[in-house]
Parts: sequence; C-alpha cells; structure tokens
Amino acid sequence: MKLLELLTQTPGVAGREERIREVIRKEMEASCDEVRSDALGNLIGLKKGSGQGKIMLAAHMDEIGFLVKYIDDKGFVRLQPVGGFDPRMLMGRRVIVHGKVDLIGNLSPSTKPVHILTEEEKKKQLQIKDFFVDLGLPHEQVKEKVEIGDPVSLRQEFARIGNNYSSKAMDDRAGVLVMLEAIKKIQQHRADIYMVATVQEEVGLRGALTSSFGIVPDLGIALDVTLAADYPGGEEPEYVTRLGEGVAIKIMDSASISDHNLVKRLREIARSENIKHQMEILPRGGTDAGSIQLSRTGIPVATLSVPCRYIHTVNEMVNRNDLEAAIDLLASFLNKTDPLDLNTGSI
Ligand code: CO
Ligand code: ZN
Repeated sequence: MKLLELLTQTPGVAGREERIREVIRKEMEASCDEVRSDALGNLIGLKKGSGQGKIMLAAHMDEIGFLVKYIDDKGFVRLQPVGGFDPRMLMGRRVIVHGKVDLIGNLSPSTKPVHILTEEEKKKQLQIKDFFVDLGLPHEQVKEKVEIGDPVSLRQEFARIGNNYSSKAMDDRAGVLVMLEAIKKIQQHRADIYMVATVQEEVGLRGALTSSFGIVPDLGIALDVTLAADYPGGEEPEYVTRLGEGVAIKIMDSASISDHNLVKRLREIARSENIKHQMEILPRGGTDAGSIQLSRTGIPVATLSVPCRYIHTVNEMVNRNDLEAAIDLLASFLNKTDPLDLNTGSI
C-alpha cells in the first residue's frame, strides 16, 4: 500500500493543504480529464461521462494538527489546535513544525517529571494549552526558522499491523485513497464524475460547502472514516462499526441524514455483488456530506465510511479488506448509477 503510506505521511493540516494537494493532483491527473483547484484550495478532478447528470465525490485531504501560537524566550513553542484532540492522546508524541524548514520536535505537557510530582499534581487533567514543543534549539534559532501561524503536524510512521494499516492522518487519507482507486476501476459510467479532495473538513466541513456550490451535482457521496469502537472500553451497541466487517453505508450522523433511496441503492449493489458491508449510525460527528446536502436548494447525499479504530490519534487503524470493499462498492455504484434516473429525495 505504497500510495496509502504516501498519502498519510504527507502533511496537510487544515488550511495548509498545499503539500498533500500536490500529491493528490499527480494521482488525479493520471485518471481524470480535467483537474483544477478552487479559491479555497479544494482539488477538483473531472472524469467525463456521457453527460447524464453529475455525481460529486468528496474526501477531505486536511488532517487535524496545530498552528504555532507563541514562541517563548527559551524557544519553546505553544500551539493552537486545528481540529478535535483528546489531550490524553498527546502524551509523548512527536511533531513536525513546518517552518522555513521542517523541524522535528517533542510534544510535552508543562509538568514536572513524575519522580517529583505530588499526589495532588498527578490528578490534574491535562489540557491542550498545557502542551509545548521542544525543538532542541535556542530561542534565536527557533525565531529564525519558525513564525507564528506555521502549521504543525503529528508524526507517526505508517505501519502494517496484522491485517490492518495504521498511521496518523488515516482520517481521511483512507477516503482519498478509496476515491482515487475507485476511479481507476470505472469504465461505463454515464454521469460526469467530480472527485473533490476537500479542504478544512476538520474545522467545519468548509471546503465541501464551496466546492459543491460550484459543481452543482445531482448527488453527492462523501468518503470518510468512521468510528470502529470495537475494542476494550466500548459497549457493543456503541461500536458504530466493526473493523474487518466491510465498508459502512451511513444512514445518519449529526451533520447529515443520507438520502433513503441512495442508501437503498448502495445496499442493493453491495448485496448483489457480495461486497462485505455494514450499516452505520453515528450519534456524533459528521462528514462532508453534511455540507453538500445543504448546498443551494439541497442535494441528496450518502457517505461510504471506512471503519477506523483510534480516530483522531496518531494510530488510526483501518482494515485492508474494508478498504477493498469501499473501493469495490464505490466503483460499482459509479458504473451502474445514472443520477437522473435515481429516485432520490422523493420519500
Ligand atoms: Co476527523
Ligand atoms: Zn474525517
């Protein structure tokens, strides 16, 4: 999975997607008729059909990260989070500060070493603002290389673990991969297919809003990861999805309710082609579908999700077969669906 490794390892903190955008642009150029980016930085690839409607695919290319907020007089860097973090997951992490050059740093909470902590101090809950980056350089050198506003990304190597892949930024480079790979597999599609690698999803589904307004699709499919809370600590009814049980067809989350006929259609295709799938209801969280759905006068949407353990940590983990299933289902749907015939929104 060389491509997934490249996608996850390339930085693209929300609002600063330029590096990941160029990686995806290369891939899109090989499989699309046209590729362009818009004012917000969304990357839009068009694969032309015979003009029977427009389908928009959206996978966000931004990842959660930080911006440099403050550099103190010892050269320690303070951070502004971009996207949702659990401070407990930041202990002992390493980051890359993307200044004039990329600098590796240690992320550490402003606390004393455990040896000299009092019992009272041990109980204190850490917050993001307690963390700082140690770049191992004196103040003057940090000031020379780093500016307020520079993006900071989490660092974690890509690993194959059993039947799974694990890395930072699997949210949502796994979705980007599904989109890129599915496009390679389609031949007889009639709709024009717009593949959008969106920006700023992690801060409020922003890129999908402007790109769908511009494209005016007849229907939209978001591709994203979703919770697979199927590990110790979770209750079975709250798993949302299970790793290895196939692509998840989303029924709803807190940003969108998928179009009923679109869900039915995806499910029928999955059943008839024996593509392993599961149905998903996510109580909290959203995907780009939430923005596409509310674009203009409303657009029918659905989301295909790749189940993912440990979301918003550096060890986000997806299953190989689930990725394959997502690619297969999306490709079949695109090959078989004429959005102008699909009876969306009518129930
Ligand atoms: Co996310
Ligand atoms: Zn996501």
